[in-house]
Amino acid sequence: MNRFPYDHAPAHFSEPPLSWGEGPAAVHPKALRDELIAAAEWVCQYLGQLPEAPVSRPMPGRRRARLHDAPLDRTGGELRQILDFVREEIAPFPTGNGHPAFFAWINSPPAPAGLIAELLASAINATCGMGENALMDLERGTVRILADLAGLPASTGGVLTSGGSMANLLALATARTWFLTRRGSGDGPAYDRDHARLTLYYNTQAHMSVAKAAACIGIPTHRLRPIPSDTQHRLDPAALRAAVTADQAAGLLPFCTVTTLGTTATGAVDPLEPVTALCRSTGMWHHADGAWGGLGAMVPALAHLYQGVADVDSMTVDPHKTLSVPVGCGALLVTDPEHLHTAFAHRASYLTPGEPATLPWLSHSTIELTRPGTRALTLWATLHHLGRDGVTTLLQHYLSLADRLRDKITASRRLELVAGGPWPVTCFRLTDTAGPDALHTRIAHRVQTAGRAYLATVTVHDQTVLRACLCNYRTRESDLDLLLREVLQAADSDCAEPTRCTTE
Ligand SMILES: Cc1ncc(COP(=O)(O)O)c(C=O)c1O
Repeated sequence: MNRFPYDHAPAHFSEPPLSWGEGPAAVHPKALRDELIAAAEWVCQYLGQLPEAPVSRPMPGRRRARLHDAPLDRTGGELRQILDFVREEIAPFPTGNGHPAFFAWINSPPAPAGLIAELLASAINATCGMGENALMDLERGTVRILADLAGLPASTGGVLTSGGSMANLLALATARTWFLTRRGSGDGPAYDRDHARLTLYYNTQAHMSVAKAAACIGIPTHRLRPIPSDTQHRLDPAALRAAVTADQAAGLLPFCTVTTLGTTATGAVDPLEPVTALCRSTGMWHHADGAWGGLGAMVPALAHLYQGVADVDSMTVDPHKTLSVPVGCGALLVTDPEHLHTAFAHRASYLTPGEPATLPWLSHSTIELTRPGTRALTLWATLHHLGRDGVTTLLQHYLSLADRLRDKITASRRLELVAGGPWPVTCFRLTDTAGPDALHTRIAHRVQTAGRAYLATVTVHDQTVLRACLCNYRTRESDLDLLLREVLQAADSDCAEPTRCTTE
């Protein structure tokens, strides 16, 4: 038997490895080193040439099929094939969010510091759920830093998650346990009785992950209350109060209101103080979904909108959006972390913390047991590289790009600004046509397929409009000009087709 697959190593390497294991997973140390160096060189080259490459390109069906349908060979391959495979089969077909002219969704490019950290954390391969390891402490530390940046109190704890959707799910599960436990209906018939009356409130503009999370914890659609927003797309506190009062009168149990800090469609920030006041007076939990705009308190120009942020019960923050930490790194921050433990700490004989008692394991604050250390290290590395001032400057960069894009749209005779802000999202449409919904969908599609820029559509005031999100530290003013040129060119091409433009 070939104990070490040395055939994968360069021929001049004949010395045995020191301690690299045995069997098919083992590799020659030199082969690993060579491949890591080659991968690092490729990463630098890839990121360097991104602005010149198409933002995205359609993937031929047979290429897709190769990825879906390829069987696993009986015998293993060589390490060097991994880089070849990525270079040829994966990298040419990205979503596009690494490219400076990608504006479609709130998807950032990877921060270089996070890239390095991802590799290093994978080598350490810590499982950040049980036991003790340095990355778990680093996770506790980065959660504390995030809470501080968000303006939450020093008592705040929490966990890193795969993203904002998971953080919202954990938040609603925590709110539900908190609410029922306080009422003495944490279990038994009282649980069934009360659970069947739990009612959830959120801005109609809230991200769909809120309704999804509600479904996951067993709150049916008929007990979800999307509250109308005002003309600026912010949750209307008077409408919220009216809905809660009506539901209480009907014998329902309002248990949580979710506000959004930076709505997905238009970047609005819900008012925090009146919602917290209502939550306090009616016994509800206040969760703020700040996946996109949770760190807004750091920007002096936005700080007034974050008045009262320290009083929310929990907040979602998505470092993979706001800070360019490589995907997926979200966070749930809870001002009294004991509530997280009540919701998620479970005991098992095969998982017993050692003596003397250590800090609560992170698996006691979330649904996951085996959890990657990559989140903590990529977040720490990105924050460490930016520093506190760098975080503010990064956010200001997005905001100033959005301002400039809005100015350009306003200055154009053919474009109209529809909505956007204060978070850096800009919604706009064509003015020189009848402007039907399908036209804007086609324009977005034409821009996407041309491959020089990428944006998507969104529905605002019942109209389909174009939406550009600014969350890319590599985006420059010239990319904004390119985007608008592409939009106008796409509109011209569309109108050049005889049946298009005016007839819908
Ligand atoms: C406000 C808001 N909340 C939650 C999410 C979901 O976050 P994720 O995609 O990280 O799951 C998004 C995604 O865009 C969002 O904009």
